[in-house]
Amino acid sequence: MKFSISSSPLETARSLIVRLQELMNEAPDKICHIALSGGSTPALMFDLWASEYKENTPWERIRLYWVDERCVPPTHPESNYGMTRDRLLEKVPLSPEYIFRIHGEAVPEEEAQRYSAQVAEHLPHSDGWVIFDAVLLGAGDDGHTSSIFPGQEELLTIDKTYAIGIHPSSGQKRIALTGAPMLHARRVFFLITGSNKASVVRTMKESGESGPAAYIAHRARNVELFLDAEAAAEISTTL
Ligand code: 6PG
Repeated sequence: MKFSISSSPLETARSLIVRLQELMNEAPDKICHIALSGGSTPALMFDLWASEYKENTPWERIRLYWVDERCVPPTHPESNYGMTRDRLLEKVPLSPEYIFRIHGEAVPEEEAQRYSAQVAEHLPHSDGWVIFDAVLLGAGDDGHTSSIFPGQEELLTIDKTYAIGIHPSSGQKRIALTGAPMLHARRVFFLITGSNKASVVRTMKESGESGPAAYIAHRARNVELFLDAEAAAEISTTL
């Protein structure tokens, strides 16, 4: 588990974009299968990516997927795809044929199966699991990641690529990447900023048993946490 701590959310986003470009430049002939998370944290990263880093990103080699999606239409304000479309996809030359959105408007259980099959069709496999080149994750202040919430830890070990998570307070269904494909990904990048995440970052660092985000952070193949100073406030003296 590596830590990259930056002074602000903007510089944290910049560090992650630069790391992704570095990864893609290491294998200039390779297609890069990337799964994005939603929520509010990545929005700043998408704004920066679409502005300062648009020109030097090999968009033609990227295949874009989602870690999770709320079961709402793409026009809904809570749609992860909708946020990514508005902040990134409409501004960069990534061909729509290389953008694989989760259909939040579909019947959840059917969409989890459809999307699992679509991802399986495009990605390499190992040990019977799809292999993403990079999975970008966030962490909720309750310790969730993807849409795997505390109390739904069966999604960490279930034998499916995508399954149904349920938001604990709203009851909203979500299509969620499960634990195994996250553990099999070549790289997992957490993007976590803000003082409200300092406690969950500490618990993630201290134990792999403190929740879904910690479980992944302690078990995935190559994990890098991109944090701002506020989110790192409770661990910075122990690094
Ligand atoms: C989602 C995300 C989710 C997110 C965390 C952090 O659909 O909400 O995929 O896993 O990464 O909830 O969300 P914030 O960035 O809004 O704090």
